[in-house]
Amino acid sequence: MQRARALVGVLALGVVVGCRDKASAPAPSASASSGPRTYLVGVSQCNLGEPWRVQMNADIERAAAAHPNLKLVLKDAQNDSLRQRAQVEELALQHIDLLIISPKEAAPLTKPVREVFERGIPVVVLDRAVEGEAFSTFIGADNRVIGAEAGKLVNKLLGGKGNVVELKGLMTSTPGQDRHSGFRAGLASPASPELKVVFEADMAWLEPNARREMESALAAHKKIDLVYAHNDPGAHGAYLAAKAAGREREMKFVGIDALPQEGVRYVQEGILDATFAYPTGGAEAIAVGLELLAGKKPPHRVTLGTRLFTRENVERGGEAIP
Ligand code: FRU
Repeated sequence: MQRARALVGVLALGVVVGCRDKASAPAPSASASSGPRTYLVGVSQCNLGEPWRVQMNADIERAAAAHPNLKLVLKDAQNDSLRQRAQVEELALQHIDLLIISPKEAAPLTKPVREVFERGIPVVVLDRAVEGEAFSTFIGADNRVIGAEAGKLVNKLLGGKGNVVELKGLMTSTPGQDRHSGFRAGLASPASPELKVVFEADMAWLEPNARREMESALAAHKKIDLVYAHNDPGAHGAYLAAKAAGREREMKFVGIDALPQEGVRYVQEGILDATFAYPTGGAEAIAVGLELLAGKKPPHRVTLGTRLFTRENVERGGEAIP
């Protein structure tokens, strides 16, 4: 509730650019001799191979388009932390006024992000975290909460009994860690000794990996009651493997992301039993970024909400998680 209020506060604060306090604000990149200041915004995206990330960039671009004084420089690290690190360093040399970054992994991106921040350039970290607190604002949904809700739902769907497969997102990224630990806590609520995770694997957020891991799970286990995948591409990959083995009706599938054209559609089509919305935070990143450029102090953390989509509620637009 408090978090939601903080976000509403951020979005309602409004934006004042062009009249910031020069002493506390970063140096300008473009020297407009007249008219409103132009700001160069570096956007470091860890990859654009998945629909959810394409959506995040689209959300950032749409929100920025409403502010002609924002110029975006978009970089795609193609799922390579070292490339992303080099791109962040490159952006800093281009004298960006603001960095928006969705890092692939926490550890390798912590230092470059800190270096940009310590140069006095505001930094908005989106969705996946870095280590420590050397950035201006982190924006994202609470993945531990989403994982815990998924765990409670799975316990309920299976009546506290059954064999579960967990296909994990990249475990060197914070959403993978949180969706895993939250899930295990939720799965044990209430404690159900007959509910077991019989197979778990890191599929690094990627559908082809999930499909391959699921083939191993199917080969190793005669009975699988449910697959929990840390994202919808993973859940879909698992479904395709089960279908190829003629076993898709034996089990349920639960994912995360709930893009309208992806996870929500899978629920409507009866492929997934449930998915949880994972908002991209793209529009909020621009709103917060504008506050930072105006020399204001938005919250250090902005936590976005989630929604649960099931076959029962999907046509009503899912339901909010309290
Ligand atoms: C896309 C993605 C999403 C997932 C998010 C976690 O790269 O894998 O599917 O929700 O990243 O950071």
